[in-house]
Amino acid sequence: MADCEVDLFVIGAGSGGVRAARIAAGYGARVMVAEEYRVGGTCVIRGCVPKKLLVYASRFADDFEDEDVEQIWVGRLAVAVYKANGQFYATQDVCTHEHAYLSDGVVVDCIVECPFHQGRFDVRTGAAMGAPVIVPLQTFPVQVVDGRLFVRVLREQMESLSETMPRPR
Ligand SMILES: Cc1cc2nc3c(=O)[nH]c(=O)nc-3n(C[C@H](O)[C@H](O)[C@H](O)COP(=O)(O)OP(=O)(O)OC[C@H]3O[C@@H](n4cnc5c(N)ncnc54)[C@H](O)[C@@H]3O)c2cc1C
Ligand code: FES
Repeated sequence: MADCEVDLFVIGAGSGGVRAARIAAGYGARVMVAEEYRVGGTCVIRGCVPKKLLVYASRFADDFEDEDVEQIWVGRLAVAVYKANGQFYATQDVCTHEHAYLSDGVVVDCIVECPFHQGRFDVRTGAAMGAPVIVPLQTFPVQVVDGRLFVRVLREQMESLSETMPRPR
């Protein structure tokens, strides 16, 4: 071991690799980790954690009447789920104008009207329909599986949008 600069060289910064590296380092070992993609591995990037976000985002389709909107939380991200013309849609819940929840607004046809300054958005595309709202909403795909609603929010979307979100009410 005289030529070695580290005691443990870990290939892959997934759950297993990071844990092994942490435990060894905790005992004073000199550890190096090589990762070819991103730290986190299967669990954090595409396995356990994204799956849980999908589950937490679910509600029952029967809870909705037509022209209805409900708020759900995906981590720290508020999401508005709409039923409009018999279809389900989801967008960020916070208006792009100021901090108002669109889930407190009114849905008519496929348009949601913000409760603060009556900014209007198309819930199908997120498009802003005119002043005072200019910036479109982020939209998220919705699936209905066995009567349950699943909203797919990418980790990157959750992180970038959560920064501007107010605390849960
Ligand atoms: C959809 C899904 C859902 C899951 N749900 C759960 C759950 O709810 N609960 C649970 O306990 N488990 C769950 N798992 C399993 C869990 O994610 C894995 O068991 C765990 O992530 C394995 O960890 P690991 O560190 O061994 O491998 P990984 O997390 O796969 O890490 C391997 C790392 O090595 C890197 N790598 C590979 N080759 C090289 C190389 N040559 N050089 C450098 N880096 C390299 C990869 O980029 C990767 O980051 C789920 C898996 C999936 C796919
Ligand atoms: S906060 Fe929504 S229109 Fe002003």
